[in-house]
Amino acid sequence: MAANQQEVHVEDLQIGDGDGDDLVTPWDVQGSSAKGVDYDKLIKRFGSQKVDDVIVKRIEQVTGKPAHHFLRRGIFFSHRDMHLILNMYEKKQPFYLYTGRGPSSDSMHMGHLIPFLFTKWLQETFDVPLVIQLTDDEKFLWKDLTLEEANRLAYENAKDIIAVGFDVNKTFIFSDMDYIGSCPEFYKNMCRVEKLVTFNQVKGIFGFGDSDCIGKISFPAIQAAPSFSSSFPHIFNRKTNIPCLIPCAIDQDPYFRMTRDVAPRMGCHKPALLHSTFFPALQGAQSKMSASDPNSSIFLTDTNKQIKDKINKYAFSGGGTTVDEHREKGGNCDIDVSYQYLTFFLEDDEKLEKIRMDYSSGELLTGFLKKELIGILQDLVSKHRDRRAQVTDDVVKQFMTPRKLKYDY
Ligand code: TRP
Repeated sequence: MAANQQEVHVEDLQIGDGDGDDLVTPWDVQGSSAKGVDYDKLIKRFGSQKVDDVIVKRIEQVTGKPAHHFLRRGIFFSHRDMHLILNMYEKKQPFYLYTGRGPSSDSMHMGHLIPFLFTKWLQETFDVPLVIQLTDDEKFLWKDLTLEEANRLAYENAKDIIAVGFDVNKTFIFSDMDYIGSCPEFYKNMCRVEKLVTFNQVKGIFGFGDSDCIGKISFPAIQAAPSFSSSFPHIFNRKTNIPCLIPCAIDQDPYFRMTRDVAPRMGCHKPALLHSTFFPALQGAQSKMSASDPNSSIFLTDTNKQIKDKINKYAFSGGGTTVDEHREKGGNCDIDVSYQYLTFFLEDDEKLEKIRMDYSSGELLTGFLKKELIGILQDLVSKHRDRRAQVTDDVVKQFMTPRKLKYDY
């Protein structure tokens, strides 16, 4: 069979299934070693770019602000076309941010918070509009949930997202079920994407099979549509070509590889991306956390006591099995979950580096790291809880009403 151009593309977009590859799809993540996923290898396989010192320095230079510690520490470790976004920003040309969440449970955990914490920083640093897609339709299709329940969860999760501190004048949050039917422009973009992607391609990208319902097969078009500014006519005054930057965990990349593949044929910019690593489960970095296992993570609803007990009992230790052995050989920060969590939440670079050195040398015991982490997480979660309590139904409605934001186009 003659290999036409489209088939070459399909090859490029395939999920990896080579021997020893980590499995990373939107539904399943499995690292092949205790350190978790090999992210450098993933960059090669997915064909993205490493967030290196050059790009971090450039972000600092064009914004005049220190880079977020998620960038400095390789947590947002990979990108696509970030240089193009920075070029636009330098020329004072507009862009916008797009991220999302699949609302599958009432309680969000620390891992769910990471992209939103970072997105808030991006919004503040670049002063740009942000759209947040709540894919209640996706969770209806994939999970054992009714439409009504998935929709309710979207609104519950919106409260947690708002509590992160987004600016209502710069942010539009929408539920797919409620927004798409009200916006012909969004639906038109879905149709355009649907026409440009074959079943063969989504099979290659997402691994769909013959017994997957047809809702799943067309869903990627719904996650693609917010990458195009014309899907939000009330925000962008019907401008069709305002570029978009998507901060997300790397497991969402398949959706956007597909989107980037079709964008030029729709006469649109490809969305740029910033990808994060996965937030490790308390038990170790081999897998993602699960909202259905309460002991796999710290939830935003956990009490101070639950946080303390979970960390002390479950956080996987990279320390020696006895104090003597630990003093002699030192701890292994690469697999120590408390240390990993500190890299996410302890902002003080010097303090973190001192902990790393002293734990690696055996001077500090795991108990010290855990105590430090417990204090930070209790503070973070209780502040979140207070802010969430302030988010009334009326506030949710403000964020979720289609409207013009503070920007003119
Ligand atoms: N599919 C994502 C999830 O299950 C939700 C989502 C929709 C998303 N659009 C996005 C995530 C854009 C990141 C960026 O969580």
